Amino acid sequence: MSGPILIFDSGVGGLSILDEVRKVLPHENYCYLFDNARLPYGELADQELIEGCKILISLVVERINASLVVIACNTASTLILPSLREVLRVPVVGVVPAVKPAALHSRAKHIGLLATPGTIKRNYTRVLIEQFASDCRVELYASSELVLLAEKKASGEAIFQEEISQLLHPIKSSGLDTLILGCTHFPILKVEIQEYLGCDVLLLDSGKAVAARVHNLIDGRADRNRAEFDTYEKRLSALYTQEINEGLKKSLAKFGFSTLSKVQTGQ
Ligand code: DGL
Repeated sequence: MSGPILIFDSGVGGLSILDEVRKVLPHENYCYLFDNARLPYGELADQELIEGCKILISLVVERINASLVVIACNTASTLILPSLREVLRVPVVGVVPAVKPAALHSRAKHIGLLATPGTIKRNYTRVLIEQFASDCRVELYASSELVLLAEKKASGEAIFQEEISQLLHPIKSSGLDTLILGCTHFPILKVEIQEYLGCDVLLLDSGKAVAARVHNLIDGRADRNRAEFDTYEKRLSALYTQEINEGLKKSLAKFGFSTLSKVQTGQ
């Protein structure tokens, strides 16, 4: 029988993707891997990001016999997918900023991309914008601070609307009508972001598109991993690269994770 679907991110951001994938494939088993030892990815040098991800993901794919890998991180997906596909024998699904839907939805043809510094500077992102949003004015906003705020929120710590407002002030004053949440951490802060920008700004992320892609690849497969566990909750396990705080452990347990453990790299 094939193993679980592996969902990967630097931190808690990929949970926003896992949430969407689980809605369309509730009977699969999932392993959530997060490389919190190296977060935030948006600040890492390209080569360091590529090599580290290749080593870690290959190790875990082999260990858990993963049937499919979702790189639930824009910063990694916009850089590492080709080299990862070279070393893995299972399908790899990536997540990239929702530039195309944003360009289609924007009435004023004025959109923004809010993502990590890594994603903003990528050639991949530039090409995506040229291909799908050439008829739009596109504003680019990079933030690793928001990644850290999403981590705080997921650990149950208080975050203040004032912090969000300060970071998003340039977006509000730009007058755009559609904002791409181009980092999987940002949907975790969607309520706060929407509250500050107001309901006239449409927020778009790629969660549902990724879920649809995974569903297409998995649905109908003969070796589908069915009913290995007897309850929905037991279908989730998490692996991390650096010890996590009690607050995050509680949140992960609430999310439904039954097993949490640190990746052992020395075996
Ligand atoms: N969640 C990630 C993304 O979608 C990366 C956040 C980070 O570690 O900088 O880009």
